[in-house]
Amino acid sequence: MEEQLLATQAERIGPHMDVVLSADQIRRRVNELAHEIDRDFMDETPIVIGMLKGSFIFVADLCRAMAIPHHIDFMAVAAYGAGTTASGAPKLLKDLTVNITGRTVLIVEDIVDTGATLSHIRRLLMTRQPRRLASVALLDKRTHEDPELPIEYVGFKIDGGFVVGYGLDLAERYRHLPYIGRLNPTQTEETDTRV
Ligand code: IMP
Repeated sequence: MEEQLLATQAERIGPHMDVVLSADQIRRRVNELAHEIDRDFMDETPIVIGMLKGSFIFVADLCRAMAIPHHIDFMAVAAYGAGTTASGAPKLLKDLTVNITGRTVLIVEDIVDTGATLSHIRRLLMTRQPRRLASVALLDKRTHEDPELPIEYVGFKIDGGFVVGYGLDLAERYRHLPYIGRLNPTQTEETDTRV
């Protein structure tokens, strides 16, 4: 059934997509992350903050795999303008609806590239004085660890190049794919990514 779905999607998308992480690999790693989080936050009720839109599928799967009680909220920042390169400080498009002062907070990001978005969000949330703040990123494209930007839980380290699927988009396309794929460079250059 899943193979059939993947074949249909691959056919529709065409030959310019390489599967980087299969749905099965993602499912297994998300379960592992959830168990690590359960263990580390056993006596707490963290507020899980999903960064829209890219993390919406990851958050949904991660939360359902977590056994400890937790609350869920979302934030949205616009990190990218046209094209696929980062552009300055991210603009806050949607703020939290809950107060995080004195609470344990878990930021859930889809992908970390330069780290600018996550570091901006961490700084912003720290001004609200949470009791504890930790970050989860499904994908980490950075080649070097940044001591200024700890990411406590990383799903996969991946090489550079633009990836889509499992919530990640290129100009709002491909978010629904159950796997993560890499488009070939001509595809990313040709597409206007303004939203
Ligand atoms: P950073 O601020 O450079 O770390 O970029 C992080 C944000 O850029 C992510 O939350 C995504 O929205 C977007 N992004 C970075 N790389 C990719 C990618 O390969 N595919 C889709 N979105 C990406």
